[in-house]
Amino acid sequence: MSWVTKTLKSTLGRKLIMALTGLFLILFLTGHVSGNLLLFKGDGGEAFNIYAKFMTTNPAVKILSYLTYISVIGHIIYSILLSQHNKAARPVGYAESKASTNSAWSSRNMGVLGTIILIFLVVHLQGFWAKMHWGEVPMVTYGEEEYKNLFLIVSEAFKQEWLVALYVISMGFLGFHLSHGFASAFQTLGLNHKKYSPAIKAIGQVYCIVVPAAFASMPLYIYFTS
Ligand code: HEM
Repeated sequence: MSWVTKTLKSTLGRKLIMALTGLFLILFLTGHVSGNLLLFKGDGGEAFNIYAKFMTTNPAVKILSYLTYISVIGHIIYSILLSQHNKAARPVGYAESKASTNSAWSSRNMGVLGTIILIFLVVHLQGFWAKMHWGEVPMVTYGEEEYKNLFLIVSEAFKQEWLVALYVISMGFLGFHLSHGFASAFQTLGLNHKKYSPAIKAIGQVYCIVVPAAFASMPLYIYFTS
């Protein structure tokens, strides 16, 4: 067995994969939420549609997209492998465990939170991403160039109350998932430092509120202004 295979099969190796894919997904979310802020521009979707075309056709961005898909799939597979390993190592729970006093709720429920986010992601990708790539999207012309009117798809989708509710509730769960994941990833990577760890923790706490809140504000804004 090569050292790579050995590392990937060890608990530490699996935790490293979770941390690295998690941090990459945090980067993706930062870019995704920033780009989607164009939905607020009030220009009928022009800037958002131009941005969406760039994001789906630029070769460099395509590489980032493939890395995102690999990270999502890797993060899911390794979370299952790790939880199976943990269960096998401790088939009976600690008799005297007072879990609620030992760890935060989010850290004890990362699997449940992750599963809810996965369900959200399936609905999300089916509604927007699959439509953008393979569905029928009306075209719009700016200057001489034609663009897919993804803004129209997003605006129409967020007229549905159930979908707005699903997005807002899911962003709450995303916040909890990130609140543990952010700090935990840095800890796994051994980036613990007397001076920097409190700053990383603080950035994580701000991030896990600001980013999900910004995502949640988009369907709410469209619903109440359309
Ligand atoms: C209101 C919030 C959101 C809106 C309006 C939105 C909008 C979109 C749109 C229009 C696309 C298709 C265009 C493209 O492929 O770039 C897309 C793709 C995607 N979204 Fe979102 N999104 C939101 C939140 C989220 C969240 C919270 C996640 C993850 C938890 C997420 C994950 C993704 C992924 C993985 C893709 C595929 C990206 C790629 O192909 O590179 N989105 N989103």
